[in-house]
Amino acid sequence: MAYRVQGVVVREEGAPATVETIIVPEPGPGEVVVDVITCGVCHTDYHYQQGGISDDFPFLLGHESTARVAVVGEGVTEVAVGDRVILNWRAVCGQCRACAKGNPQYCFATHNATQKMTLEDGTELSPALGIGSFAEKTLVAAGQCTKIDEESDAAAVGLLGCGIMAGIGAAINTGDVQRGETVAVIGCGGVGSAAIAGAQLAGATTIIAVDIDDAKLEQAKRFGATHTVNSSREDAVESIQSFTNGFGADVVIDAVGRPETYKQAFYARDLAGRVVLVGVPTPEMQLELPLLDVFGRGGSLKSSWYGDCLPSRDFQMLIDQYKLGRLDLDGFVTERIPLDGVETAFGKMAGGNVLRSVVEL
Ligand SMILES: NC(=O)c1ccc[n+]([C@@H]2O[C@H](COP(=O)([O-])OP(=O)(O)OC[C@H]3O[C@@H](n4cnc5c(N)ncnc54)[C@H](O)[C@@H]3O)[C@@H](O)[C@H]2O)c1
Ligand SMILES: [Zn+2]
Ligand SMILES: [Zn+2]
Repeated sequence: MAYRVQGVVVREEGAPATVETIIVPEPGPGEVVVDVITCGVCHTDYHYQQGGISDDFPFLLGHESTARVAVVGEGVTEVAVGDRVILNWRAVCGQCRACAKGNPQYCFATHNATQKMTLEDGTELSPALGIGSFAEKTLVAAGQCTKIDEESDAAAVGLLGCGIMAGIGAAINTGDVQRGETVAVIGCGGVGSAAIAGAQLAGATTIIAVDIDDAKLEQAKRFGATHTVNSSREDAVESIQSFTNGFGADVVIDAVGRPETYKQAFYARDLAGRVVLVGVPTPEMQLELPLLDVFGRGGSLKSSWYGDCLPSRDFQMLIDQYKLGRLDLDGFVTERIPLDGVETAFGKMAGGNVLRSVVEL
């Protein structure tokens, strides 16, 4: 028996995200069908709609979710029916060369469901990040379900499934921010604000928020920014240097992902400092830098895929920080919307001071 449910689909590049009937198959071996509880609207969903990620239309959007396990396929031992979970896009394989080297956070062969969800006419859907959870039910690999506690607010903790985890992890994992360090974050949307919160959690004492939107900068203070820079009016590099004794920050996190913001990050860090790229560029973007500066400034240039997180290690740990009052996950939930509000939410993401619109199902 398959399930006929409502889901948010984009049929072709730039087409609106609309609610359609989708068919979710019974879970096969190693697969799970979940009832989705909440799903945050991430910039990555918008990238999918605009054709910035791949051409595999139609997409079933959505990937930042709390859910409940509804049905499990053959051989599933990781989770049981009724478990409350956050969906992740890093179900590690345990066998690829990264896993074999003890670096499962880089796993190159993460698991997704093998069966396809479809439109009513049988057209196969590509689920965003192998999840597709702007839907009443979705089909995932069992390892994509990370069990969490029952108490915490579903809308808030579900955001750890992607953008908020990516931002926090860019600071605490990839950037390896240490107590007393100086950190600058360029772009203070959901991901950047989470990087600010992560820097605070790690004990950074100077945290500089950079954005082109004053409302975002005001919000960034709530998550721990000690200084703010509006880079549409002020020079980002000079301002960051001025807040760090003229030297630049130990760690600069680019949460926009454009050549100009990357260059700002590159030049705004101290000698031997770290640059972390967590914003996702689009295919046409090119970067040009003097190679001598790459050498002469030393340090490291790292990219952060999903905040180098391990869902089994990090999700409940961060929920516990939230419950202890050390991590303001509530602050990321700007509004709660119905399933048919995703297209409008994309517009707000670009314009207003929305960190996350969260669909409640
Ligand atoms: N690496 C990962 O694993 C991962 C995971 C999730 C999202 N992302 C990516 O992170 C990026 C941010 O996502 P988000 O959901 O926070 O987006 P968002 O739209 O909520 O926020 C983007 C922010 O950047 C600001 N901005 C835009 N141009 C700027 C500029 N030139 N200088 C300074 N600030 C600028 C905007 O004002 C906004 O506040 C996206 O590219 C998204 O795809 C990456
Ligand atoms: Zn692996
Ligand atoms: Zn996302």
